[in-house]
Amino acid sequence: MIEIERLEKTFTQPGGERVPALRGIDLVIPTGQFVTVIGTNGSGKSTLLNAVAGTFLPDGGTIRIAGIDVTRQPEFRRASLIGRVFQDPFKGTCPSMSVGENLRMAELRGERRGLRVGLSRSALDRYHELVKGLGMRLEGRLRATMGTLSGGQRQAITLLMATLKRPQLLLLDEHTAALDPRAADQIIKITDDVVRENKLTTLMVTHSMEQALEQGDRTIMVHRGEILADLSGDERAGLDANDLLRRFTELRYTVEFAVANRPPA
Ligand SMILES: Nc1ncnc2c1ncn2[C@@H]1O[C@H](COP(=O)(O)OP(=O)(O)O)[C@@H](O)[C@H]1O
Ligand SMILES: [Mg+2]
Repeated sequence: MIEIERLEKTFTQPGGERVPALRGIDLVIPTGQFVTVIGTNGSGKSTLLNAVAGTFLPDGGTIRIAGIDVTRQPEFRRASLIGRVFQDPFKGTCPSMSVGENLRMAELRGERRGLRVGLSRSALDRYHELVKGLGMRLEGRLRATMGTLSGGQRQAITLLMATLKRPQLLLLDEHTAALDPRAADQIIKITDDVVRENKLTTLMVTHSMEQALEQGDRTIMVHRGEILADLSGDERAGLDANDLLRRFTELRYTVEFAVANRPPA
């Protein structure tokens, strides 16, 4: 379970302007739930994921992952609880190392002893099966360097690495946005498979209304650092992408109108 309470973060821009990126986010995600996150550019989606991952410490509020209060923990301390995939297929793997070596590194994460760094025959066989299951023509590429793979292939490996140790939380930040439509579809399918098979608690940011509704169990809309809507169950099941967009636009309008017409302080 993920428990986020009154989470706040304000950035100071280089010019001195203060940008409240998270304004008291409350969000509880039961174990195994897959939540999709939508919101306009700059609404605070990445900041929410970064705060949970510990990229920076929040100004206020608390974050608990599987009962552990990680709010003041540095990023490396909570890393073993979290798997992440970013938009950029070049992030998250080591480009000069082979696919097999990258998988080995992911497997060694958090292990103190008992595992050798080298790639044994049995490890290679295991990885062969794993990457074969991805259906991305990677089974012959275990000895190829990461840098020679396509963006889609990289994201598939990154996803595998992020979930190999069954993290308490999987964070996906527009991880298909930089891919061509076909590769994006493949990665979404793999994401769905991996999350279901491992029953992973997941937060996935997407700019696609279709993805937001078709994937996962619940959809939240973020705007100006707040959760504007939280949809699940029958209410969510009854919506299509157009409904979702309309709903989002109406809610945003209400907020923007209220902000613009606020009496001067
Ligand atoms: N490291 C940072 N320094 C300064 N401002 C930031 C930083 N990260 C994000 N912001 C600002 O916080 C707001 C939310 O950004 P972000 O969470 O990246 O939005 P989203 O992912 O929803 O597009 C934006 O106004 C952005 O410019
Ligand atoms: Mg973002």
